[in-house]
Amino acid sequence: MASLTLTITDTALSLAISTDQNLLEHCLAADLPVTRSCRNGNCGRCDSRLQKGQVQLRNGSIIHAPAIIPLCIAHARSDIHISHIPLVQLPTHWRCQWQNPQTLRLPAGRQTPPRQGDICAILVTHGVETNEIAEINGRNIVLRHPSGNKLESGSASLITIDRDHHGDYSLWREYDGEQQQLWAHLNHPTALVAQAAYQQSGTSGRYLILSD
Ligand code: FES
Repeated sequence: MASLTLTITDTALSLAISTDQNLLEHCLAADLPVTRSCRNGNCGRCDSRLQKGQVQLRNGSIIHAPAIIPLCIAHARSDIHISHIPLVQLPTHWRCQWQNPQTLRLPAGRQTPPRQGDICAILVTHGVETNEIAEINGRNIVLRHPSGNKLESGSASLITIDRDHHGDYSLWREYDGEQQQLWAHLNHPTALVAQAAYQQSGTSGRYLILSD
């Protein structure tokens, strides 16, 4: 297995990498919180600028610098330099209205909608459902699977999450002296995003992240 170097020019970081793991995996292993979701080259979340060198995509095509590449399906074929890596910022959540069990509607006004292919979590009062965004149609967000929620309130918070969101943390709601587990076995970044979204959603209670 060849040992190569990945230089991330905007962080001055240089990593020893191999050809068998993709560039996103290398960045995450170095604790760089790269924005990602689908991990199959569709959503564009992890797109970065290849400044020097060449990579091979999962479909076998070879890309030479300069180019924009999805890190999640790119494997180094030489020493490479990349820049403009998108890093996770403040959690984004959208407060939407249910139109039917498979469609959510964004509120009117300026919004940057989630993207087709994003993996998402829908926060309902008593838990969390994970889903995938199949289509964006104006303000309507069509989900891959119909919700199992009874749609009592008509509204729901939606956040985009990493496809591999599984980990060793749980999200709990504490209200009126009682604790209720909302979501188990998730990774820490996703737990933080979900906690922030619940807190911003105005639902009563305290939201705690506990390790399993
Ligand atoms: S394109 Fe890389 S995570 Fe979606």
